[in-house]
Amino acid sequence: MMRERKTLDRVLSRAGAMSRKQAELAIREGRVRVNGLRERDPATWVDLAQDRVSLDDRPLAEWKAVHLALHKPVGYVTTRSDEHGRATVYELLPDVEAWVAPIGRLDRDTSGLLLFTNDTELAEHVNNPASKLPKTYDCVAAGELDDQALERLRRGVPLDDGPTRPALVELFARGEGRTQLALTITEGRNRQVRRMLEALGSRVLSLQRTAIGPIRLGPLELGRHRKLSSREVRALYSR
Ligand code: URA
Repeated sequence: MMRERKTLDRVLSRAGAMSRKQAELAIREGRVRVNGLRERDPATWVDLAQDRVSLDDRPLAEWKAVHLALHKPVGYVTTRSDEHGRATVYELLPDVEAWVAPIGRLDRDTSGLLLFTNDTELAEHVNNPASKLPKTYDCVAAGELDDQALERLRRGVPLDDGPTRPALVELFARGEGRTQLALTITEGRNRQVRRMLEALGSRVLSLQRTAIGPIRLGPLELGRHRKLSSREVRALYSR
């Protein structure tokens, strides 16, 4: 898989052992060996086709990249530990032994698809705005948004950190003082969907992420997680 030469810190993070920063620290702490010799320079070039790399005396080949999809319920914060003692998404992953981190985040009041991985290169790709990976949300908004308002969402809404990129908007239902729609955006700014609707004088009543690029939430039960298939991981990379 990994044929070309890479720096040692990158090799460790790509193998799913830890983040790039953690890898750098582990190398400097002398926890990493290359061909049996302790290596303390994170910028050392290695070629996994030839070099034997170990971390804490465990061959790197034993560390596996993990990619998970979680159906996050409302009420969980996307952090490892919360200073206010609120429930965190990690409480929903008690059986996952690998070091994994969420790719991006969902607000406490948002449910839906949240990806986790220890593959920092994939996380960087998905999070990078330049990748323009579409993220789709099912949204119930307060008020009955007219076609003009939906058009404004499509064209881009001015927010205090700049106008939003054009979005895809699909109207599901409008009536009884609310609007149900699917919104697909290619950015991941803080509270973006909520702020887009607030800019129109509406507000989000409920929000669920249903897709990230080619990955669908599908029938995954609330609070449960599943592994991404290698095909799904490849598809994420190719977007
Ligand atoms: N937009 C929001 O406003 N909140 C989320 O959690 C995700 C997207």
